[in-house]
Amino acid sequence: MNCDKINILCCNFVVLVIKRYRFITNRNKYMAGKAKFGSKIGLIAATVGSAVGLGNVWRFPSVAQENGGAAFLIIYIACVFILGIPVMLSEFALGRGGNSDAVGVYKRLTPAKKWYFNGILGVLASYIILSFYMVVAGWTLEYFWQSISGGLFDTSTTFVNKMHQLIGTSWSPIIWTVIMILLNMIVLLLGVNKGIEKLSNLLMPLLFVLLIIFCVVSLNLPNAIEGLEFFLKPDFANVSGATFINALGQAFFSLSLGMGILITYAAYYPHDTKLTRTAVTVSLLDFLVAFLMGLIIFPAVKSFGLDTDPEALKGTTLVFVTLPEVFSQMPVSQLWSALFFLLLSVAAITSTISLAEVNVSLMQDRFKFSRVKSSLIVILPLFVLSSICSLSQGPLSDITIMGNTIFDFLDLVATNLMLPISAFFCCIYVGWVLPKNFLERELTNHGEFGSVAYPFVLFCVRYIAPILILFILLSPFLD
Ligand code: PHE
Repeated sequence: MNCDKINILCCNFVVLVIKRYRFITNRNKYMAGKAKFGSKIGLIAATVGSAVGLGNVWRFPSVAQENGGAAFLIIYIACVFILGIPVMLSEFALGRGGNSDAVGVYKRLTPAKKWYFNGILGVLASYIILSFYMVVAGWTLEYFWQSISGGLFDTSTTFVNKMHQLIGTSWSPIIWTVIMILLNMIVLLLGVNKGIEKLSNLLMPLLFVLLIIFCVVSLNLPNAIEGLEFFLKPDFANVSGATFINALGQAFFSLSLGMGILITYAAYYPHDTKLTRTAVTVSLLDFLVAFLMGLIIFPAVKSFGLDTDPEALKGTTLVFVTLPEVFSQMPVSQLWSALFFLLLSVAAITSTISLAEVNVSLMQDRFKFSRVKSSLIVILPLFVLSSICSLSQGPLSDITIMGNTIFDFLDLVATNLMLPISAFFCCIYVGWVLPKNFLERELTNHGEFGSVAYPFVLFCVRYIAPILILFILLSPFLD
């Protein structure tokens, strides 16, 4: 009798050992298939690279200046903490916990449900944004070249005309868009570690060095202090309901939420990555870049008396007309201009790559295509789509959809509709559909350490963030 018991126990033990062994080998096999970032610095550089883009340059400083200066900065930081970081953490948790692409995570975590449609929405948004963001990225490269060659500063025409020539004609912007697409393709083909991570490790420090050089130069211009005051003087009279919506929208777009980027990148995070710390670091670095941009732009425009027209301080006019005008009045114009457009190109390419990677990762995980095949499937259609977007700024500008050019229409639909909807359902999914402890397990690395932030994050993901996202969505109808 005793012997039988011992036999059964032994058998059970052997079965257990075999099961455990199978589990570990299967898990290792699976994990081996999914690339992981090699270092903490690398994963932060890549994620910050995605977040830092043209929004930090041509939107943040002007929005801050118009909406109460320092008062806006405080509101913005608050929005980052109650909306940006919680949504970012939801996406991180989905990505690392689901360990798959932006659609696959939903399929994996809730196989019997249709939540993966939300992933599809985010991925579609990312591809649409990619198609026109690539064009803008191409313009930054074109201006970089025009600065080096000196073409930008030939005095035969104004900077406004020059901009129309450079981005509104047919061939030259397409050629630069194509060059940008090819650069993206090379990085994507090189893969997560040798491509994305290496590039980010190289470009992000370069970006910060350039920013600091520009800050020093700008703050030493005559009248720099007046520019600083113009940017930062707290003015609560300018704070209105719209200010909050602006701050929310800016935090949302700037942190690249709602399009599967953070899910995709977090799936490449090693299992010991501290998600909360990463989200806070990324968000604050993104804010720092936007803030430094304000410290560069306003003293410079004030110093050269170019601050009279508010339109000159935002969007494409700021970047492609006003700032070249500033550079033209400085000694060694070509050098400053080239360095500035290099900075912009760096900010742009790390963002386009993250957008493309969402789709490449999807092809690899969903359809089991090789990296090369996946990258080509994602990149090749862009030669046509981005060219159409580029032409819609010039020769095809007569073709409009609901009163917008093709470029503007895609921007409107993807940025104002698809992203907030996808992020809204992402919060609902993590906050209400998945088991409550899913987020906790990811924030504490499966109980390895405690998380003081967890109750606050869960509360934001469940209640605050969805409500704020609804505000962003409905804001066009609120006036
Ligand atoms: N976050 C980027 C910016 O501030 C924009 C972006 C959007 C980047 C979508 C990648 C994807 O400009």
